[in-house]
Amino acid sequence: MATLELAIELGTCNTAIYMLGHGVVLYEPSIVAFSNDVKQKKIKAVGLQAIQMVGKSPVDTAVVNPISEGLIIDEDACVRMLKVFLKKLTPKELIFNPKFKAILCVPMGLSSIERRCFESVCLKAGISEISLIESALASAIGLDLPVTNANCNLVVNCGGGKTDIAVVSMCKIVEGCSLNIGGNMLDLAIIDFILGKYNVRVGKQSAKKIKHDIVSLYQNDSSQTQILGADIKERTPVEATVNAEDLLDCIMPYFDKIVEGIKIVLSKCNPEVVADIKLVGLNLCGGLSQLPGIDEMLKKNLGLNINQVDNPSFVSISGAGKLIADKKLLKDIIE
Ligand SMILES: Nc1ncnc2c1ncn2[C@@H]1O[C@H](COP(=O)(O)OP(=O)(O)O)[C@@H](O)[C@H]1O
Ligand SMILES: [Mg+2]
Repeated sequence: MATLELAIELGTCNTAIYMLGHGVVLYEPSIVAFSNDVKQKKIKAVGLQAIQMVGKSPVDTAVVNPISEGLIIDEDACVRMLKVFLKKLTPKELIFNPKFKAILCVPMGLSSIERRCFESVCLKAGISEISLIESALASAIGLDLPVTNANCNLVVNCGGGKTDIAVVSMCKIVEGCSLNIGGNMLDLAIIDFILGKYNVRVGKQSAKKIKHDIVSLYQNDSSQTQILGADIKERTPVEATVNAEDLLDCIMPYFDKIVEGIKIVLSKCNPEVVADIKLVGLNLCGGLSQLPGIDEMLKKNLGLNINQVDNPSFVSISGAGKLIADKKLLKDIIE
C-alpha cells in the first residue's frame, strides 16, 4: 500500500496541505457547502468552489466554516472537508487507497480536549498516523530560523482567526500566547463600520475585498473604493464610497491588542532573551501580515526591526513540510 506523507494546516480561513516530494499541493478556503436536507446533509461544494457561495447560497444550501478562531467548531463538516481534500490530492494512478501519515499544525495553548478533537478529525478523515505541532514552531522552521540552537527568535503569525506570538529556542516555545484576533475580525469590524456610517449592509466577502483593496495601517492613506450593498432603511441596493482613513479607526483597536500581546510576551522573557530578539527583530508571517503598513506600525510601537517574507500564508505549512523530511528535528520538537 502506498503511503502519502503530508503536512496539514486546518486554518480558520484556509486549509493548506504539503506532500513529501511535491511541496504545497493544496491551498483552499476551509469551507463546506451542504444541502439543507437534515437527513442527507449532502456535500455540494468544498473549498474554492464553496467560497463562491458565501452569502449567495440558495435556500437549500448551508455554507459552513468548520474552523473558527483556530478551533474546530463543526467536527463532522471538518472531517468531510478534509476527506474531499485528501481525495483531491491522491494520485489517480493508485489502485488502492493510500495510507496517510500527517504532521498537523495547530494553534498554541490547546487544551487536551481541543488537541483530541484535531486528532479525531484526522483519524476519521482517514489519516492513520498524526503528529501535532504548534503553528508558531512550524512558522519558525518555515522562516529558516535557527530553531535548534539557544538563540531566541520572536515569531508573530497573524492569520484569519488567530494571532500567535511565540519566542522560539532549542526546538521549543519558551514564551508565547495566542490571541483570538485575525483577518476575519477585521472583516466584521468593517461590516459594522459601514453599517453604522452609511446604513449600508455589506457581506463578509465584500468586507474582505475592501480590506484587501484599500485598508492599510498608514495614517493619512487617501485610498478609497466604491462599495455595493443593501440600504437597511430603504431595502434597496446602494453604492457608497468608503475610504482607508475611516477604516483605519475601526481596525486599529485590534492591532493595539496585538502590540499589547507582543509586549506582554516580551515582558515575561529574561533580559538575555530580549537582547537576542532585539538583534534579529520580529519575524512576521500569516496572511494578515500582508496588510500594508503593518511593519511600520509594529516597528514604531515595539522598537524592533520587522522581517517579512514574500509568501507569508505558506510559512507554517512549508515549515511543517520540512519536518516530514527531517525526522530527527520532528522528534526533538515533539518530545
Ligand atoms: N493582502 C492582504 N491584505 C490584508 N489581509 C490579507 C491579505 N491577504 C490575505 N489576508 C488575510 O489573511 C487572512 C488569512 O490568513 P491565513 O494565514 O491564510 O489564515 P489561516 O491560517 O488562519 O487560515 C484572511 O483574513 C485574509 O483576508
Ligand atoms: Mg495560519
